[in-house]
Amino acid sequence: MASKFFFTLCLLWCLLLATAMASSDDGSFATRLNPKVLKLKKEKLTRFHLYWHDVVGGSNPTSVPVLPRLDNVTLFGLINMFDNPLTVGADPKSRLVGRSQGLYASTAQHEIGLLMAMNFAFTYGKYKGSSITILGRNPIVNHVREMPVVGGTGRFRFARGHALAKTQYFNATTLDAIVEYDIYVLHYY
Ligand SMILES: *[C@@H]1O[C@H](CO)[C@@H](O)[C@H](O)[C@H]1NC(C)=O
Ligand SMILES: *[C@@H]1O[C@H](CO)[C@@H](O)[C@H](O)[C@H]1NC(C)=O
Repeated sequence: MASKFFFTLCLLWCLLLATAMASSDDGSFATRLNPKVLKLKKEKLTRFHLYWHDVVGGSNPTSVPVLPRLDNVTLFGLINMFDNPLTVGADPKSRLVGRSQGLYASTAQHEIGLLMAMNFAFTYGKYKGSSITILGRNPIVNHVREMPVVGGTGRFRFARGHALAKTQYFNATTLDAIVEYDIYVLHYY
């Protein structure tokens, strides 16, 4: 009698286990993995020091308005699309290490404030082929603006961090600007 009861219990348990296994296999789109599978071991902290050249004027602009401003004081409504050089020095002729591609949109109605949405795509050295993505608020009249690094590709998979931007040069006639970027990135690769 006792062995029969035990056998039934065993059978029930086996059935339950089989159901549980089937449900984790069958039609499941999310699988829990060990981070080691993607070699996510030790996070490194790297600082990048770059200059971002927004060339709006002249015959070879790298930054072009795609929507005009609605307000002449705050520039509200303006959207520029850009493919700006990233160099190691403030001099536009210094070594090119990547390109910053994206757009800035003037989204503040009571000050001059941009929404930056851009990728820094590296084209030189160890980080060539990898990119980081910056998405954040940029009140350009402030001396230092902070923007989050929200992720990246290649060596910057699973990256996070922040960028500090300071305007080095601004030409009110051409609207050209050179902005210094200090970017702190935590990354694994
Ligand atoms: C902004 O200024 C320009 C001239 O620089 C003028 O033509 C335009 O009407 C102004 N726009 C507004 C919304 O005031
Ligand atoms: C702004 O750009 C114009 C046109 O290139 C140039 O003539 C002028 O000297 C520049 N101003 C400054 C402050 O660099």
